[in-house]
Amino acid sequence: MTTAQTAPPPPMRLRELVFGAACAAALRAAARLGVADALGDGPMTVEDLAAAVKTEPRPTRRLLRALSCYGVFAEQEDGTFTHTDMSRLLREDDPHSLRDITLWCTEPWTWDVWPELDEAMRTGRNVVQDLYGKEFFAYLNEDAPESAEVFNRAMTTSSEQSARDVAAFLDLSGSTSVADIGGGQGHVVASLLDKYPAMHGSLLDLPRVVENAVPRLRGGGDLADRVRIVPGDVRVAVPVRADTYIIKNILEWDDESTARTLRNVIEAGGPGTRIVVVENLVDDTPSMRFSTAMDLLLLLNVGGAKHTTESMAARLTEAGLVIEDVSPVNPYLHAFDCVVPG
Ligand SMILES: C[S@@+](CC[C@H](N)C(=O)[O-])C[C@H]1O[C@@H](n2cnc3c(N)ncnc32)[C@H](O)[C@@H]1O
Repeated sequence: MTTAQTAPPPPMRLRELVFGAACAAALRAAARLGVADALGDGPMTVEDLAAAVKTEPRPTRRLLRALSCYGVFAEQEDGTFTHTDMSRLLREDDPHSLRDITLWCTEPWTWDVWPELDEAMRTGRNVVQDLYGKEFFAYLNEDAPESAEVFNRAMTTSSEQSARDVAAFLDLSGSTSVADIGGGQGHVVASLLDKYPAMHGSLLDLPRVVENAVPRLRGGGDLADRVRIVPGDVRVAVPVRADTYIIKNILEWDDESTARTLRNVIEAGGPGTRIVVVENLVDDTPSMRFSTAMDLLLLLNVGGAKHTTESMAARLTEAGLVIEDVSPVNPYLHAFDCVVPG
């Protein structure tokens, strides 16, 4: 029987670590094949599982055995497999599903950029420009539509979960309008408009992203008459006026893009405007392994970084903002509540 094991001695642990790609690839294959979706509540034979996901039984057993070493699926004494808490998260219908996040973190472009990490160390810049001849989001939206689709679904999953937390956390009782800058498909705006029935909102993001804004915000949706959807590039201009601006999980790119975005938001809002920046921080996180991995991936794709409390605060004050409060929204997210002085 294969089970998750306690940490082996250092030489073996290091061997395991250098094979991290095998684990990521196995998770990706299981997610793409829908293995977790095919496995029901009870044990299943490999033959039945393979028939359900249209694979060969022998390699399927090897895939399941590899994953069960990490506690993703469990092999039983009789050779059948059952779910574990982690394998259930690969199911599409799990309320806390991480299937799309699994695909996003293992998309084809990630296998192109990781080998260039030493080069990124030397230059301090992203490697996407050299690999694909354009910036990451341009590459994603123009040349990798399937990855863009996976990205949008993965962002939707994490946005839906965190939007509720952000809306519950934020007290906007002093505002009549809110703008979400780089707000993705608009989950945060939708949650805030639900919380404040008299409030008006704006959603600004790249054209191909806002095209797929959540249906409630688009024509015919129940929130459509209280929201303005604005396609655009926040580094070029923020043509949106509001009392409060939210900037969530955007300022993780290069410092110049952060500075330009903040300048544009400050110009759009003017003195007295409230700007709430929400970020995952690398120095105050329940999982340093996950956060530092994301930090390196951000360097590779957008030349960015996960901030520490100090580095985020420095970017905000350099931009001219006054930070009034820094508080945890949930264990993974922090809000920097700022105001434009003057
Ligand atoms: C990590 S996602 C965060 C989305 C959303 N704020 C959230 O927290 O769920 C980054 C977002 O930035 C958007 N984005 C990237 N570059 C942009 C740009 N130049 N102008 C506007 N939005 C941009 C992406 O399309 C994406 O929706």
